[in-house]
Amino acid sequence: MAEPRRRVWVSQPLFDDIVGRLAVHFDVAAPARVMEYTPVQIADALRQADGVLATLNERIGVEEIAGAARLRAIANVGVGYNNLDVAALTQAGILATNTPDVLTETTADFGFALLMATARRITESERWLREGRWTQWSFDSMLGADLHGSTLGILGMGRIGQGIARRAVGFDMRVLYHNRSRLPVDTEQACRAEYVDLDRLLAQSDHLLLVLPYSPQSHHIIDAAALAKMKPTATLVNIARGGLIDELALAQALAGGRLAAAGLDVFEGEPAVRPELLALRNVVLTPHIASGSLATRRAMVSLAVDNLIAALGEGPAAGNPPNLINGDALRAAGLTGNTGGGARKTAIKR
Ligand code: GLV
Repeated sequence: MAEPRRRVWVSQPLFDDIVGRLAVHFDVAAPARVMEYTPVQIADALRQADGVLATLNERIGVEEIAGAARLRAIANVGVGYNNLDVAALTQAGILATNTPDVLTETTADFGFALLMATARRITESERWLREGRWTQWSFDSMLGADLHGSTLGILGMGRIGQGIARRAVGFDMRVLYHNRSRLPVDTEQACRAEYVDLDRLLAQSDHLLLVLPYSPQSHHIIDAAALAKMKPTATLVNIARGGLIDELALAQALAGGRLAAAGLDVFEGEPAVRPELLALRNVVLTPHIASGSLATRRAMVSLAVDNLIAALGEGPAAGNPPNLINGDALRAAGLTGNTGGGARKTAIKR
């Protein structure tokens, strides 16, 4: 008798034509509309699934996987994966993947766009105009801060940070960066970026962009003390994760004139945004869209689909998902991890 087809849960509506590739190998369950799940609903869905295509909306940890006996792989559609408890997945032998690279340039573009909108007060002045308050041109209205010739600080110098640094060259900016580990000298030279410690980055940046991964170690890395070290004329932009910033301290600094402006694409409790931030004129707020060009979002879904097919032991990369986050899960699942398709394919299917 033929083995029953394995099941994949796609947590949100993505691009049907791309997600449809999963149906060649698996039975696919996907919602017709955007969903907000409770942890219990996620646990129920995982219990039925061999594989999952998840987005950053779905938090998956110890409790959600407790009853997920058949679950072998989770492909996150995003480069960040702080929605996944990777240690718990690894221990349970569940492979996890993400979607790096395909979103680097689009996200770096957006980082720059948000920086420009913030420093040059673009959305604030548009709101003002639409409110009918532009009654006379005046020489000193909506004065912002220059990008060209200024010092750009980048906190987190991975692929996206480096993409932003490369763009800054065209704006004739001096680029400082801080990262857990210093980049090789040739990469620094290619980005024309200088490594500094965090205190110097905070003190010297005219514009500071956050592009580092969120983790317990980076939680509220920008708190009241860090904000106090920044120039009162500085701009702060966050395109990484909301939890990097103590948002209440930020709102207080912005309201008190201790920081000029902020551009935020991500929020600690998103989609909720603190009323203290919403009330401020000198903050640009966008709904987590840094990777949101059509081409890039399609590429992310496509890569996640490839990852999931491979992680479940099918397709040309069977057993070798291109963007495996937790190689140790192979060992925990009793797989050697040192072979290509065949050996893993069989084992992962078990
Ligand atoms: C989006 O925030 C991502 O991590 O891809």
